[in-house]
Amino acid sequence: MKFEKNILCIGAGYVGGPTMAMIAYKCPRYRITVVDINSTRIAEWNSEELPIYEPGLDEIVRATSGKNLFFSTDIEGGIRDNDIIFVSVNTPTKTFGAGAGMAADLQYWEKTARQILQYSKSSKIVIEKSTLPVKTAQAMENILRNTHSVYFEILSNPEFLAEGSAIRDLENPDRILIGSQDTESGLKARETLAEIYANWVPREKIITSNIWSSELSKIVSNAFLAQRISSINAISALCEKTDADITEVSRAVGMDSRIGSKFLNASIGFGGSCFKKDILNLVYLCRHYGLNEVADYWESVVKINQYQQVRFILNMLTAMFNTLTDKKICLFGFAFKANTGDTRESPAIFIARRLLEEKAEIVITDPKALRNARADMAGVNGKISFVEDPYMAAEECHAIALLTEWEIYRNLDFQKIYDTMAKPASIFDGRNILDHKRCFDIGFNVYPTGKPPLTHF
Ligand code: UDX
Ligand code: UDX
Repeated sequence: MKFEKNILCIGAGYVGGPTMAMIAYKCPRYRITVVDINSTRIAEWNSEELPIYEPGLDEIVRATSGKNLFFSTDIEGGIRDNDIIFVSVNTPTKTFGAGAGMAADLQYWEKTARQILQYSKSSKIVIEKSTLPVKTAQAMENILRNTHSVYFEILSNPEFLAEGSAIRDLENPDRILIGSQDTESGLKARETLAEIYANWVPREKIITSNIWSSELSKIVSNAFLAQRISSINAISALCEKTDADITEVSRAVGMDSRIGSKFLNASIGFGGSCFKKDILNLVYLCRHYGLNEVADYWESVVKINQYQQVRFILNMLTAMFNTLTDKKICLFGFAFKANTGDTRESPAIFIARRLLEEKAEIVITDPKALRNARADMAGVNGKISFVEDPYMAAEECHAIALLTEWEIYRNLDFQKIYDTMAKPASIFDGRNILDHKRCFDIGFNVYPTGKPPLTHF
């Protein structure tokens, strides 16, 4: 069968995999190939058990894989045979040299650009899907324009999906943003990409801008979202010192239509591969341009996030008579949010490590993230076990720390759990999802986030 468009994506991760699966699902007339340097990951995409857990993903991959969606390690062939190339390789925070701990590590992007240059035999549209600091496209263009035989048009098309709701977000995005150059070929490439999305996204939601605005918009969107969480978490600390209740405050504040009610849940802090990395990027960029006040402002969002996690540990310590040594603590949830197995930058990692430093014994349970949790905790000293069943995980524990807002935790039989635990038994609800009054009535000492504790002392 002859396909209308041949599309390649380099990088079969949390973004590349689901995004391409959605395009394949919505556009049977296009042939989509996803390549990756990681052959294990590609084998998993081609197997029954996909490398990432995302509600609804299995179904759309099953419907398209082998028909118009293909996963492969043949990067060279992929580049040669496709004329629209999405790049979705990771851009972690640099761990070495200038900008270490702040700037984006662009080595994978640059390596990929050089591969595109090396293997291309015809002109291509190259689309930045990875989140990149402003002006990266220009650097890439400088690399890709190093040839006269073929022409590359670079577009920025950031992905705004959130993990756990990726399929819903891809199917019904708030907006699709395409940044391009304002030249004839730039505008033509922009229309080619818009046509792909227009297969299922209303045209009015497909917006355009220049490349740098597009790159910056992605980082700023994440910074704004993270800022809301740090704002509400900062107020949760104040609530704990007073008689205010953070849930009541966020409800009242969020009903102002100018503010809006989403992303106002107090928590143990945000995790995930994006928020911290992107804010640090923004901070680095501002410092680079001498905007130190602006940099400090955004950096405080990350500082409050760290403070919230430290506070959670200190609250546990105080509540449990200032010693955790040899106490058994069960962590309900390890993923950075519900409905994903992803643990990148999960506050649970920091909390688990700190509890071990206090010489507590920890039991980790999570419905989808235990494989990643084992990898995160590998080599860390201390008593750690991993138990799938939350009832068994909590047995003989002195406390439960609820770290991920999995729906299943709301509906557990807490009487049954209480009966098997060491006494006094405590619950630290880092997500405020439990029925605190009911848990208290059962006998637990309950420590919510941003509201007065309910204790039997
Ligand atoms: C994405 C974006 O690309 C990143 O910029 C954004 O900030 C977060 O989301 P994500 O899909 O979550 O990254 O990353 P990851 O799951 O690590 O996937 C990246 C994939 O690219 C990996 O499978 C990796 O093996 C692959 N890769 C990396 C290549 O194929 N080639 C490389 O040179 C480097
Ligand atoms: C985020 C952005 O939402 C998405 O648009 C972007 O493309 C990638 O980064 P993601 O990190 O997958 O997505 O998840 P998100 O739902 O934004 O949650 C991030 C973190 O914030 C999680 O740890 C979550 O638990 C936390 N959070 C979220 C809160 O603590 N409180 C809230 O009210 C909302």
